Amino acid sequence: MPERFPASLQQKIEDRLRYYEDMGIRLFYTDRGPGGAGVAVREAVASFPPLPPVLQETALPKSTPKLAPMKAIPPPAPSPLVAPPAGASLFEAVDKVKDDNLLKIREDLGECTRCKLHKGRNKIVFGDGNPKAQLVFVGEGPGADEDMQGLPFVGRAGKLLTQMIEAMGLQRSDVYICNVVKCRPPENRAPEPDEVAACSPFLMRQIDSIHPKVIVCLGATAAKTILNTTRGISQFRGEWLEWRGHKLMATYHPAYLLRNPPAKADVWKDLQKVMAELGLQLPKKSKA
Ligand code: URA
Repeated sequence: MPERFPASLQQKIEDRLRYYEDMGIRLFYTDRGPGGAGVAVREAVASFPPLPPVLQETALPKSTPKLAPMKAIPPPAPSPLVAPPAGASLFEAVDKVKDDNLLKIREDLGECTRCKLHKGRNKIVFGDGNPKAQLVFVGEGPGADEDMQGLPFVGRAGKLLTQMIEAMGLQRSDVYICNVVKCRPPENRAPEPDEVAACSPFLMRQIDSIHPKVIVCLGATAAKTILNTTRGISQFRGEWLEWRGHKLMATYHPAYLLRNPPAKADVWKDLQKVMAELGLQLPKKSKA
């Protein structure tokens, strides 16, 4: 008879195995099942690397503000984010999954019930666009329109994003668009830390598998989640950062632009930097 663990330990082991499964690591599961599962699981768990701090129970809510290891790309812009590594972010700490692709990731996500957001969702909003896009936009989470259609950024903010993409000389189908969480938060509130932690492995795998040249974080939630920082977005908006081998820029969320149209000028400046990086033709400067 396999040895039984105390319930709380068993739960921790299960959570941890599920996390690794979400990351595409299935090797441990080949020995699961009746008869011997306890021993196999215990051995497997003993050999796991430590969980990224952000996933540890005690670290989830109200954690002390820590910056992710980020480097500015040369020529180095003086940035408050260019700091020595102060603890790995959720994403930096996890290895890439070999031969991953969006279909596999979608399959692994399944009809997800990993966090409480599933209770109120109509459709999972996985992400949409070119699986080989050079440019990925990451938003916060689906709103009502997205939840109904199962597609990201199709509501009012989405229409503005589409216009921004077209102003860059691209089509939506040229880029990939996704969100930090894949289910609509109630009343369009910001996703909570446990929801972000449950969904993040999938976002990370999506970005890794697309391998874009540039990631644009739309708004504070996407920027803070990916960069693991509590700093306000206005402190680093428009600066080039590096993240897992990609250039990353944070800019304001289109929904913010709908409420605050003068900020469109800042976003357009940021997008022009992205265009230059991607070799897209910049608009001619109008004569004064
Ligand atoms: N806002 C987001 O952050 N994402 C969407 O998909 C739609 C609105």
